[in-house]
Amino acid sequence: MGASIREILASKGPAEGVAVRGWVRTRRDAKGFSFLEVNDGSCLGSVQVIVDAGVPGSDDLPGMTTGSAVEAVGDLVESPGGGQAWELRATRVALVGGAPDDYPLQKKRHGPEFLRQIAHLRPRTNLFGAVFRTRSLLAHAVHRFFEERGFVWVHTPIVTASDCEGAGEMFRVTTQEVGGGKDSPEDDFFGKSTYLTVSGQLEAETFACALSKVYTFGPTFRAENSNTTRHAAEFWMIEPEMAFCDLGGDMDLAEEFVKVLVRAVLEGPADDFGLFSRFVDKGLEERLKFIVERPFERVSYTEAVAILEKSGRKFEYPVAWGENLQSEHERFLTEEHFECPVTVHDYPEAIKPFYMRRNDDGKTVAAMDVLVPGIGEIVGGSQREERQDVLERTLAADGLGSGYDWYLDLRRFGTVPHAGFGAGFERILMLVTGVQNIRDVIPYPRTPGHCGP
Ligand code: 4AD
Ligand code: MG
Repeated sequence: MGASIREILASKGPAEGVAVRGWVRTRRDAKGFSFLEVNDGSCLGSVQVIVDAGVPGSDDLPGMTTGSAVEAVGDLVESPGGGQAWELRATRVALVGGAPDDYPLQKKRHGPEFLRQIAHLRPRTNLFGAVFRTRSLLAHAVHRFFEERGFVWVHTPIVTASDCEGAGEMFRVTTQEVGGGKDSPEDDFFGKSTYLTVSGQLEAETFACALSKVYTFGPTFRAENSNTTRHAAEFWMIEPEMAFCDLGGDMDLAEEFVKVLVRAVLEGPADDFGLFSRFVDKGLEERLKFIVERPFERVSYTEAVAILEKSGRKFEYPVAWGENLQSEHERFLTEEHFECPVTVHDYPEAIKPFYMRRNDDGKTVAAMDVLVPGIGEIVGGSQREERQDVLERTLAADGLGSGYDWYLDLRRFGTVPHAGFGAGFERILMLVTGVQNIRDVIPYPRTPGHCGP
């Protein structure tokens, strides 16, 4: 592997025999020479290659069209034009793989809908290159965050028999053929009904009750028929889980986590961030700096409902104590009322899953959601019910009696107060890039009615 274009463009001085490999963004022909703009995705910038007529390989120049793959070797010299510091004067070029003129990414602006239809080619555009480099940077920052705090990374299963959220939004996993006769769960591959996981939380809890501080980071699946810009059927979730931790400690960690990730992007490559703040969302930098610098607001669900009721605002979904906060309510709180991220805590028991710890008021559970401007909920978590008798009751109330003995064992043997949360990786990416649609921050979006390559 030779040097990447990112390394070449950061060169400290001129150099000879430098090889550039990548895809042609544009070619311009002048009298006696051609300019090739070559990009390899290592950074936003392309390197300009000057190819004099007559250098070895220059006969193939007509085939070096937008989208084709090329290799150029030559001298890295100071670039007389503005724009970049270095350009390559080729001593030889080669066409590695041509791209006929039906290559869909000809040099012009393409809309996001069009680019979603060619998800396999869109990483070759400036915006998607920047988004997916940022996705990688953020994933590293996630692992660094937890490693620095002594958390153990646990790989929880993708195929599971338990419904963590109890919301019936699971994709079935089966090897049974439709109409194949043998279609009872006992005859299926695992001898019971199995699904793609909606959350690694329950398994993470078992590891937290052994290794104290753990986290998961992996794909999760929801057969949720909500066609919004913030929901995907397959998305990545980060789920820390801590033994000897209550809701307060959980909220502290969640808020710090969001801040640290935002800071990682602010301190990341300036070219990619500059593209987001210039072309995607002009208010991005100011908003992110504000998130890093200011403490988040904290309100109870009950206080939040009172604020919404007093707002005089006409919402599409009415506000009432006991109802779920809708996205429009969440966004009013974070964007208009507080104008900063808000952590809402202690939600009504009736709208939350069995595993959340029942509060003494008999009405609420020790749950929390972190809401941010532009998106709404990006983190959802809770203190877990550690009392065996209470948990047995709440499991039964959700119709989940059998199959959770292993989970109840945690409460039978050395039970401890513990807490954790789930953060939607794509939602955090939307926050830090300003990209408005979840479909544009995940390589291959899966949404109702859509499963591309
Ligand atoms: O609030 P949720 O459903 O919480 C859980 O799954 C808990 N078991 C997490 C835990 O406590 N360990 O999901 C957590 C987060 C949400 O706040 C949201 O950011 C994201 O996951 N999320 C989605 N992101 C994209 N598409 C979807 N369909 C999502 N559903 C949830
Ligand atoms: Mg939630």
